[in-house]
Amino acid sequence: MEPYSMKNPYPATVLGVRAVTKPGSAKETIHVDYSLEGSGLTYVTGDALGVIPCNDPALVEALITALGLNAEEAVPMPDGSTASLKEALTTAYDITSLKKGNLTKWNAVAGSEKLTAILNDKDALKDFVWGRDMLDLATDAETAAKFENASAFVGILGKLTPRLYSIASSPDAVPGQVSLCVGAVRYTAQNRTRGGVCSTFMADRIKPGDKVKVFVHSNKNFRLPEDGNTPIIMVGPGTGIAPFRAFWQQRVADNAPGANWLFFGNPYKATDGCYEDEIAPLVESGKLRLSVAWSRDQAHKIYVQNLMEQAGEEIWQWLENGAAVYMCGDANRMAKDVEKTLLSIISTHGKRSEDEAAAYLKDMKAAKRYQKDVY
Ligand SMILES: Cc1cc2nc3c(=O)[nH]c(=O)nc-3n(C[C@H](O)[C@H](O)[C@H](O)COP(=O)(O)OP(=O)(O)OC[C@H]3O[C@@H](n4cnc5c(N)ncnc54)[C@H](O)[C@@H]3O)c2cc1C
Ligand SMILES: NC(=O)c1ccc[n+]([C@@H]2O[C@H](COP(=O)([O-])OP(=O)(O)OC[C@H]3O[C@@H](n4cnc5c(N)ncnc54)[C@H](OP(=O)(O)O)[C@@H]3O)[C@@H](O)[C@H]2O)c1
Repeated sequence: MEPYSMKNPYPATVLGVRAVTKPGSAKETIHVDYSLEGSGLTYVTGDALGVIPCNDPALVEALITALGLNAEEAVPMPDGSTASLKEALTTAYDITSLKKGNLTKWNAVAGSEKLTAILNDKDALKDFVWGRDMLDLATDAETAAKFENASAFVGILGKLTPRLYSIASSPDAVPGQVSLCVGAVRYTAQNRTRGGVCSTFMADRIKPGDKVKVFVHSNKNFRLPEDGNTPIIMVGPGTGIAPFRAFWQQRVADNAPGANWLFFGNPYKATDGCYEDEIAPLVESGKLRLSVAWSRDQAHKIYVQNLMEQAGEEIWQWLENGAAVYMCGDANRMAKDVEKTLLSIISTHGKRSEDEAAAYLKDMKAAKRYQKDVY
């Protein structure tokens, strides 16, 4: 049998889905366990899992109705097979992201003056596609299109793409299983509440026993040190904590003597703690040092990098003792700010110029002592 891969994903059984953050959290986060038993799939701590989601059936139904199409009409699937329109839109086609390509194809049928103007203006296009989907096009009289049949509509759609998630488990701690820590993406735009396809698929629509198509995505650039004596510093605010759960499970499974220091951050202590019941015994037994930045529990923001700054001298000592530094989470702001702080720690406490600090970090990177998994 062909091994499971991105092209041939494995239908993994959902073992459980549970909330990580508490009700009312501004960072609704869930934990999902899948079984890989019998799949032949293996992963290494630090890898990611690709998940192939299904679109929200309510959105699919609303879209079919707005388009005036027949849900049961047979349409081609991306793999060449045939399915009903409803099945195809639920499992195989992207109906939530608007791009220049699919808008142009839509407008070839709609002939909308409004869309034509938007398509000719880069800034207007960027503004228009943010927070809109196919249903918005179909329900706005100025952009609506009358497709000849269901196949003509799916012909303008791209494929539903898999999403990657940092694996939040160690294969040695939970053989035959894989866990994820997922932030549910929810927002309101154009007066309609919307959900990220894959994160709300897992948060709202899967239950134990269901099968979800997954594949392992190797990440050779996010690996624990080979030597278990090496101290590690992990910086993972929000869902950035995901791979570090795998890391601490692995270090415990390996009986690795190296010190472990986790910098975590989330808005409020009351609602946004993650894996506190698992972390507490590790902290008590001295296996994990924990620094938490509750960003909104006081008048001014406190972020992980503020705690790192405060502990600058100690971090510098850890670096000089060969520590490896890992960062995971938001690529846009957090990763840049944390890197700036690391450089400032190296330059202040290591008494180095800006250029020398940059060279120090570059050497750490080359020695695989500075690794990032940011998105
Ligand atoms: C290597 C890697 C590892 C990752 N690991 C994790 C992880 O461990 N945990 C985790 O939770 N995520 C992780 N992610 C992110 C994850 O892959 C998905 O991107 C995320 O879950 C969102 O996917 P979605 O399908 O739910 O949302 P999508 O359907 O893809 O929707 C997201 C889109 O919605 C739109 N949008 C979002 N908010 C708004 C708003 N307020 N207004 C208007 N439009 C908006 C934007 O266009 C945005 O791009 C990782 C990503 C990578 C690349
Ligand atoms: N592609 C996608 O659609 C998608 C989906 C989900 C997540 N993401 C990315 O993944 C990131 C992680 O999301 P998340 O919800 O788990 O957590 P998050 O938004 O990163 O928030 C986690 C903590 O980090 C704080 N924070 C904000 N800005 C920071 C900065 N510059 N430096 C350090 N800490 C900072 C937050 O504080 P405050 O909130 O109080 O400011 C919060 O306490 C998101 O920011 C987003 O970029 C992308």
